[in-house]
Amino acid sequence: MEQKEDKLKEVISHAKEYGFVFPSSEIYDGLAATYDYGQLGSELKNNIKSYWWKSMVQMHDNIVGIDSAIFMHPTTWKASGHVDAFNDPLIDNKDSKKRYRADVLIEEHIEKIRQKIDKEVEKGFKKFGDSFDEAQFRATNPNVLRNAQKITEIEDRMRTTLENNDLEGVYQLIVDLEIACPISGSKNWTEVRQFNLMFSTELGSVAGDASTIYLRPETAQGIFVNFLNVQKSGRMKIPFGIAQIGKAFRNEIVARQFIFRMREFEQMEMQFFVRPGEEMKWYEYWKETRANWHKKLGLGDNLYRFHDHIKLAHYANAAADIEFDFPMGFKELEGIHSRTDFDLKQHEQFSGKKLQYFDPELNQNYVPYVVETSVGLDRMFLSVLSASYKNEKLEDGSERSVLSLPPALAPIKVAVMPLTKKDGLPEKAHEVLNLLKYDYNCTYDEKDSPGKRYRRQDAIGTPYCVMIDHQTMEDNTVTIRDRDTMEQIRVAIPELYKIIDEKVNMRTLLV
Ligand code: GAP
Repeated sequence: MEQKEDKLKEVISHAKEYGFVFPSSEIYDGLAATYDYGQLGSELKNNIKSYWWKSMVQMHDNIVGIDSAIFMHPTTWKASGHVDAFNDPLIDNKDSKKRYRADVLIEEHIEKIRQKIDKEVEKGFKKFGDSFDEAQFRATNPNVLRNAQKITEIEDRMRTTLENNDLEGVYQLIVDLEIACPISGSKNWTEVRQFNLMFSTELGSVAGDASTIYLRPETAQGIFVNFLNVQKSGRMKIPFGIAQIGKAFRNEIVARQFIFRMREFEQMEMQFFVRPGEEMKWYEYWKETRANWHKKLGLGDNLYRFHDHIKLAHYANAAADIEFDFPMGFKELEGIHSRTDFDLKQHEQFSGKKLQYFDPELNQNYVPYVVETSVGLDRMFLSVLSASYKNEKLEDGSERSVLSLPPALAPIKVAVMPLTKKDGLPEKAHEVLNLLKYDYNCTYDEKDSPGKRYRRQDAIGTPYCVMIDHQTMEDNTVTIRDRDTMEQIRVAIPELYKIIDEKVNMRTLLV
């Protein structure tokens, strides 16, 4: 655990040192849970967006993309349920004065019990070796069964209390489980209270209820209110999807862990409108499709797992998270929600406008059901950055920091370098750069020894370095160095495009 915490610290400091992520308004000592993306961070972020947008919109002929406003009519949030129900149950520890989400404290307690089960299974595996039957062991071992029973009981109590808004019951569960504050170690808790997460502001100069508007807490509602506009203007036939990338704002109380939980963040969301009754089929389809999208990045399939929700949001009839093994452990990266017809029906009711689809095959009007995929762009960024960051010991005993980013996402694809600053090599290097820059984000670097320059590019994840040397001036060849293998090969300049393209083109992730 300690090692993992160290890893997060290292990633944060690497991100700052190389211009990926800075604390926001740092000269004023920063603003809690708010971050700025630097010169390389914004490139990486744009590439992640592009991977998502291309795979969602360009690769599906029944999904289109929009860009709706952050400010929406205030009734939107009454209709969606966010004004009344977008709350977190919070609890404070009286000794450390730290505030926690009560449900998260309980889920962390459950996770500890789950780890005990895993340890028991590991022991069994060590004892029985290849003949070990894990399924049978889990079904019969008394310790495993006792702990599994504990988990079921806690989950049942948590679900019932949260669904009934029984805050005293949630408090009692924390007391009964003897959950202690991770900071103070004490069990001296306040009562549990609900806290609304939406930021509000005033529209125009007149203060008062009528002019209160909200900064959207999710991009999805901008899609719902445009459902008919898009369906009619795009002549869309069900099933079809509307995708959007944009900022969302939440007054997170427990905002920690770098860009994992921020107050201003970006979401990449897609609402898939389907026939009522077909939503579970599409829910399963999108669960699998989205998991594959993540795994295609090649960061390691073992870094992802599904987590089915116990406490369903007020709009969902099924929901799962794709969790990622962040430096802080497995946490939610993306949510897949079967949102039923809740949102469209609510907007029909509150706006008085029909939001229905005429299905020509069924010869029938209905309010479509919705399956949503929603991934946080900043969490994607952290998953990619943390899994790619490595400190390697090399054969010659030296060390290097390398970001083994998926090449298609790397902020800079090629660094072009002259071996020395004289003999016409810089001019030749600029010629090569001018050849490549229309297709790839390239950089030019002539400072320091080649070794130092390679290390600098490794540290920011540049897949290729192209070195212009004296032989280049004679036969128009260069060396190209691969970030991961560190091997260099000599190639003719006209061959560069093909070599680079094979590795860094977004197509490598999409096919
Ligand atoms: N429209 C559904 C929705 O907003 P959510 O599970 O609350 O569902 C979706 O959020 C995703 O947005 C999460 O899986 C996470 O990746 C990201 N997200 C949510 N809150 C966040 C925060 N405070 N900071 C960064 N990302 C966040």
